[in-house]
Amino acid sequence: MNKYAFPGVALATTLILSGCQQAPSAVAAPVTSAATHTAPTDAELLARGEYLIRTSGCNDCHTPDYGPRQGQVPTSEWLVGSPLGYKGPWGTTYATNLRLRLADMDETQWLDYSATLKTRPIMPDFAVRAMTAEDRRALYRFVRSLGPGGQPAPEFVPPDQPVQPPYFELVMPTPPAGVPANTAAPAVGSVPATDAAPKAPSRG
Ligand code: HEC
Repeated sequence: MNKYAFPGVALATTLILSGCQQAPSAVAAPVTSAATHTAPTDAELLARGEYLIRTSGCNDCHTPDYGPRQGQVPTSEWLVGSPLGYKGPWGTTYATNLRLRLADMDETQWLDYSATLKTRPIMPDFAVRAMTAEDRRALYRFVRSLGPGGQPAPEFVPPDQPVQPPYFELVMPTPPAGVPANTAAPAVGSVPATDAAPKAPSRG
C-alpha cells in the first residue's frame, strides 16, 4: 500500500496529531475504526465474511448464475466455481471453486496466501490484497462454514487453444498502424509463448 497515494489521509492524520495528542492509538488506526475494536467473536467473523462475499462481487464470478438470478441464491450454492470462461490475451480462466480451494488450506496458510494473492485475469486479486487481515480471516471462516461443495472449475486454457462455450471474450483494441499487436503469434524459432503471455491491460 502506497501511503503517498492518500494525501487526504496524511493531512487528516497531521491535523489529528496536532490537535488531539491524547489519543495516539486513534492516530495510528486505519481509516476504519477497526483497531479500536476488541477482537471479533466467531459469530461476528462469520457474519462479516458473508457480508463481504455478498457485497464485494465474489459471487458474480465464483457462483454460477448469481447475476442472472439477481443475487437470489442460497448461501449453500455460493462459491462452487463456474464453468463460464473469461477469454482474453491471457488465455481463458475460470472462477475457482473457493469451497474446495479453501478446504485445502488452514487459516494461517490462507492469511499468507491471500495477503499476496496473484492470479491471472479476470480475478481482481488486488481487491483481496487490499483487505485487512481481519476481513480476509472473516472470508475464510465464512467459506469454510459452507463446507467443501461442488466440483472443481474447468482448467485454465492457454491462449490460442480452442475453448468451448460458454465464455466471455475480451476483444482488444486494434493497435495503431505500424505498431505490432502484442497478441501476434511468435516468429518461428523464437521462445515459446508459455511464459510470455501478454500482460493484461491495467484496469485501474
Ligand atoms: C470478475 C470475476 C471475478 C470476481 C469478481 C472475483 N473473482 Fe476470484 N477468480 C476469478 C477467476 C477467473 C479466477 C481464476 C484465476 C486464475 O485462473 O488464475 C479467480 C481466482 C480466485 C482465487 C484464487 C484461487 C486459487 O486457485 O488459488 C481466489 C482466492 C479468489 N478468486 C477469491 C475471490 C474473492 C474473495 C472475491 C471477492 C472479493 C473474488 N475472487 C472475486 C474471477 C473473479
